[in-house]
Amino acid sequence: MMSFGERFRVTVFGTSHGPEVGVTVLGVPEGTPIDLIGIQSDLDRRRPVGRRLATKRQEEDVLVVESGYREGRSDGSLFRAHVRNEDVRREPYDRIADTPRPGHADYPARVRFGAGADLSGGGIFSGRMTVGLVIAGGIARSMLAPLGIEVVAFTRSIGGVEATVSEDQPPAQLRHVTAQNEVATPDPEVAGKMEEAILDARRDGDSVGGVIEVRASGVPVGLGEPFFDSLESVLAHAWFAIPAVKAVEFGAGFAAARMRGSEHNDPFVWAEGRVRTTSNHAGGILGGLATGMPLVARLTIKPTSSIARPQQTVNLATHAPATLVVTGRHDPCIVPRAVVVVESVTAFVLADLALRGGFVR
Ligand SMILES: Cc1cc2nc3c(=O)[nH]c(=O)nc-3n(C[C@H](O)[C@H](O)[C@H](O)COP(=O)(O)O)c2cc1C
Repeated sequence: MMSFGERFRVTVFGTSHGPEVGVTVLGVPEGTPIDLIGIQSDLDRRRPVGRRLATKRQEEDVLVVESGYREGRSDGSLFRAHVRNEDVRREPYDRIADTPRPGHADYPARVRFGAGADLSGGGIFSGRMTVGLVIAGGIARSMLAPLGIEVVAFTRSIGGVEATVSEDQPPAQLRHVTAQNEVATPDPEVAGKMEEAILDARRDGDSVGGVIEVRASGVPVGLGEPFFDSLESVLAHAWFAIPAVKAVEFGAGFAAARMRGSEHNDPFVWAEGRVRTTSNHAGGILGGLATGMPLVARLTIKPTSSIARPQQTVNLATHAPATLVVTGRHDPCIVPRAVVVVESVTAFVLADLALRGGFVR
């Protein structure tokens, strides 16, 4: 299933080592501004180029819009855009066809889709597919802006190094500080330590994971659909499609298990002309509907599975034990590049629910 959303319908296409990767978006209201420069700069945040800490795969990722766009705005028809895959080297992947990488999609994908499936570069399981998510998120962001909704994601931890981030830091400031370092964290005190954790792992032929936090302010009270399409359900559904996401928590999340109701409940007050809560353990969601407080969630990104040190696997043709050395170009940590992806997916989920709930006409 390569599509997501009911009213703002995002479909990703392409593969890691095919000619291109991209996206179509059906349902962009006519006249919605499409900020090509903003989308290109989001694509640049996703790219490894210039990042000392990332994969050596070099891609320009130049946005090519094919349809649905006229003079800076949506023309109301199907939006379609892609970027070319330039830096494709097949050789390293041919070798792992029979010896699946531990931790990657190779084994179940081959059983499900057969030996002929194009898993070169990870095929459709590659992080490269997230290019389309970033493009769709850029359009969604322009739709959300007039509603006063702003989404920002950042690195909360890498390899056990935790950032300290105040709950009420304004989104614009968070965004600004996060852009100042290679690990996309708003806590400059720990940015260097996070970088060290990544470089240490790389030196050991290994990798590290971490946690991305996402916050959305200005979400209108009541956004979300009843029961199976609760705000949490739809966000989690879309977030888990991002490769390497292994856990999601909203608000107090897993810590809620150790709290009492009196501590976890967020007291209501009337302030600044509206209902607010004095704490936000709910993460801005009650009953699957937005409360109007900031939506707050954290996503665990696992350590990159393609590591340089030898790993144990099995030869699928002979069933003999095998030792695998992965030689492709891989990030020792996915977290910094996934920040913009999480932000983008959050934006298009909110755009879809805003359309479904009649918050946008
Ligand atoms: C932006 C991004 C870049 C990624 N880069 C790599 C990579 O270089 N090497 C790798 O093994 N996995 C990478 N991944 C993760 C794999 O695609 C993912 O772990 C794999 O498809 C298995 O899926 P799962 O981890 O969700 O189970 C990346 C993911 C993202 C979001």
